[in-house]
Amino acid sequence: MIFENKHILLGITGGIAAYKAVELLRLLKKAGADVTVIMTENAKKFVGITTFEVLSENPVLSDLYFDTNTSVKHIDLAQKADAVVIAPATANTIAKLAAGIADNALTTTLLAVTCPVMVCPSMNTDMYQNIRVQRNLDILEKDGWHILDPDSGVLACKTTGAGRLPEPWFIFDRMEAMLTRKDLKGKRVLISAGPTVEAIDPVRFISNHSSGKMGFAVAKAAEKRGADVTLVSGPVHLETPVGVTRISIESCDEMAAQMLLHLGEADIIIKVAAVADYRPIDPKSSKIKKKDGHNELTLDMVETQDILKLIGEKKTKKQFLVGFAAETEDLEKNAALKIKKKNLDMIAANLVGAEDSGFKADTNKVKLIFRDGSSSDIPLMKKEQVANILIDHILDKMR
Ligand code: PMT
Repeated sequence: MIFENKHILLGITGGIAAYKAVELLRLLKKAGADVTVIMTENAKKFVGITTFEVLSENPVLSDLYFDTNTSVKHIDLAQKADAVVIAPATANTIAKLAAGIADNALTTTLLAVTCPVMVCPSMNTDMYQNIRVQRNLDILEKDGWHILDPDSGVLACKTTGAGRLPEPWFIFDRMEAMLTRKDLKGKRVLISAGPTVEAIDPVRFISNHSSGKMGFAVAKAAEKRGADVTLVSGPVHLETPVGVTRISIESCDEMAAQMLLHLGEADIIIKVAAVADYRPIDPKSSKIKKKDGHNELTLDMVETQDILKLIGEKKTKKQFLVGFAAETEDLEKNAALKIKKKNLDMIAANLVGAEDSGFKADTNKVKLIFRDGSSSDIPLMKKEQVANILIDHILDKMR
């Protein structure tokens, strides 16, 4: 949502990675931003203006004297910009920006902007590591601009090392973080997500439908808001959110061990994971064979540890503990009981079973119930939005 109706300036300089700016532009537009592209003369040798004009639905600025209708176009653009990203940024443009030189449309506009700026250097490794380039990047960083470290890998010049422009999704993600207010700065957040898996034998297990989407959305939102996030997750098919420390586990016992290990340093603990309540008492070390003439198989199960309850017993007054509850009936009553039983500060209760909320869906609908008995409904919306509203409420209650 952060890019919705925001004015973004996308600066492109003359590097081979200029083609990646096309995808970055597409991502920004898809997220609702109004993007104006500013290209240096050299950038136009790598990708044509038309591509950017068509995709941005705005004229590309590259010649300050071309459009005589608006004499101070670069100032207009600079004043209405909510953010600037320069991707790729060459050593030449970085040097000019650090020195305050204004000799083309991009460098001139950049002298007039007051909004957040992200610079994405991309060049040969030796050039990138050159002391002058590093000094110029330091100057820009000290001036308050955001420098995105380049990736390492094989470069266009066939050398291997740092200097590759990060992938567009990553630049987009870091821009999102740059524009997000850092109201969780200095806070450590411990989150559990996904299902647990309890072995029956080496090839079979008991688990549930949790995809990890809700827990990962909370982790992503918390990181963007400035928190130091540790995410303990069961097996899921999701990329680790940028900047989040992920610990992968399988069983309830493994999740309990990791959550308790990191509990002491956490300010906020959010248990989104769907943990198995029971596990086979005696998981077999070899595959259980099908027996002829037996059409039934009984598994002896034992209760798993209730991790949330354990944390509730151990937590200090300063720590804020949030549980999630997946209910198929009596949502409020059952969730409220869990607050008392597990010593929670808040519980997010989902009525599961519908296609558009709870397990696996991209959206969720939850009722937040607080220790004091008050509650707040979060209507059906994307799990990322639910995550942010959940964090708003946590911060509100912690004040
Ligand atoms: O992962 P998704 O596909 O996005 O789905 C999201 C979700 C539906 C899994 C999530 O929104 C959710 O509701 N998570 C909690 C699911 C659950 O296990 O609910 P519960 O009522 O069984 O457990 C209540 C709380 O106790 C949970 O915070 C759970 O993590 C915790 N618990 C439960 C059992 C146990 N042995 N240890 C626990 O810590």
